[in-house]
Amino acid sequence: MTDTNRVIIFDTTLRDGEQSPGASMNTGEKVRLAMQLEKLGVDVIEAGFPAASDGDFDAVATIAAKLHRLQVAGLARATRADIDRAWQAIQTAAAPRIHTFIATSDIHMEHKLRMSRDQVVAAAVDAVRHARGYTGNVEFSAEDGSRSDRDFLCRVFEAAIEAGATTVNLPDTVGYAIPEEFAELVRYIMAHTPNIGKAVLSVHCHNDLGLATANTLAAIKAGARQAEVTLNGIGERAGNTAMEEVVMALHTRHNYLGLSTGIHTDQIHASSRLVSMITGILVQPNKAVVGANAFAHEAGIHQDGMLKNPMTYEIMRPETIGLSRNRLVLGKHSGRHALHDQLKQLGYDLGEDELSLVFTRFKELADKKKTIMDEDLEVLVTEGILRTADIFQLEYLHVTAGTTVLPMASVKLKVNGRSVQGAGYGNGPIDAAYNTIAKLTGTQSELLRFTVAALTGGTDAQGEVTVRLRENGLLALGKGADPDIITASAKAYVNGLNRLEYLKTHPVHDRQGL
Ligand code: KIV
Ligand code: ZN
Repeated sequence: MTDTNRVIIFDTTLRDGEQSPGASMNTGEKVRLAMQLEKLGVDVIEAGFPAASDGDFDAVATIAAKLHRLQVAGLARATRADIDRAWQAIQTAAAPRIHTFIATSDIHMEHKLRMSRDQVVAAAVDAVRHARGYTGNVEFSAEDGSRSDRDFLCRVFEAAIEAGATTVNLPDTVGYAIPEEFAELVRYIMAHTPNIGKAVLSVHCHNDLGLATANTLAAIKAGARQAEVTLNGIGERAGNTAMEEVVMALHTRHNYLGLSTGIHTDQIHASSRLVSMITGILVQPNKAVVGANAFAHEAGIHQDGMLKNPMTYEIMRPETIGLSRNRLVLGKHSGRHALHDQLKQLGYDLGEDELSLVFTRFKELADKKKTIMDEDLEVLVTEGILRTADIFQLEYLHVTAGTTVLPMASVKLKVNGRSVQGAGYGNGPIDAAYNTIAKLTGTQSELLRFTVAALTGGTDAQGEVTVRLRENGLLALGKGADPDIITASAKAYVNGLNRLEYLKTHPVHDRQGL
């Protein structure tokens, strides 16, 4: 890396992000997201943790083979077996990176690893050397780095760099750091790790105290040159540093920070939506940069200022993140060509067959809804293309409900390609539909949460339903949209059940509390 003002963006949405409770993604969804990340211009993607499960391995291997430009990282504990497995998965990538880690804080070494400091240094060195046997692109992470003894941290980093690590990463694994303190730690490492100039210093923050972005920016200002981030800030517990926040802070405050990234900011909105669609994790409306209200001005005095000059209250332009003020609205009379163009704008470059499928669904929706917005199109793509490999597919739903009748539902589903149908009742139409679907699928999940929101404005807006399901300790989110709220609810439930099935068949053996 020659440009010292360039910050490397390492995206871990597919690995740490997937560790958000219920956020499992299937391989097709991961590949789709990886391709969007390439378009977004990230430098490195962490595609997964190949030793964690066969499913993770397959997803990483598929992504590695598909991407042309990006560096693809596979995570591995500091063991030869994990590193071998990571390498097998990423070896076909244009630019593979092995990312190996071991904990360096006293609390983790004593209670989790039961290893002494010397043993941890030896394991780190052995892991990095072993990884270097495969590739010249090796990252070493000191897990729980922010709570580690600083001199020991410098010792581990020095040894890892000596063994061949080209990036050393300082994680704030439990989101404990405070910006000024974290920046000071970065400066300390730079000053007390003699060979630090031979590697890129990276940071990886969690958001337990809501400080992940602040800590990351403080660290970058202090000299770190790689930021590990996820889209929408998804991740374990309170999540990881949100990519869009770091990138837009560097972009907007270039005058103060003087640093840049290779991100094509006009792809941020589409990428954020895609993550939300795929994982089922909604973006809170007041979320910085990508929340629905991030560019909405409610107060009269603000609106007045905005009309006179947007710069009065807007530090970023919506266009910069790919959010157009003049959104093209499609409708019943729009043709295939217009649909294709608009999907391209949204980041979906579909093949002919895929386009035909979406076009058919588009026409069906346009019969029910006058204006088709970007959000509607995203749902059509996600439901029509990304979910085709689902075990359960909703084919037909009919409900009767009202003040004087017992709510009933008749449902037809495809289960592994075979049509099944049945009827059932419940406390209300949604309960009736869910009971019937559960019976037909032979599943016994518990509905933990049910939320409904309007996908866009307008009384004909599609309802977007999100459910959170639990079955035998497995958690999954499901999402569905439809102009009819009961159908949206059924779609969300079926989607959640599919995700549970995926988790059942792709068990994660051991994620080491990451
Ligand atoms: O939070 C963490 O420490 C991690 C490491 C594997 C980088 O995710
Ligand atoms: Zn992490």
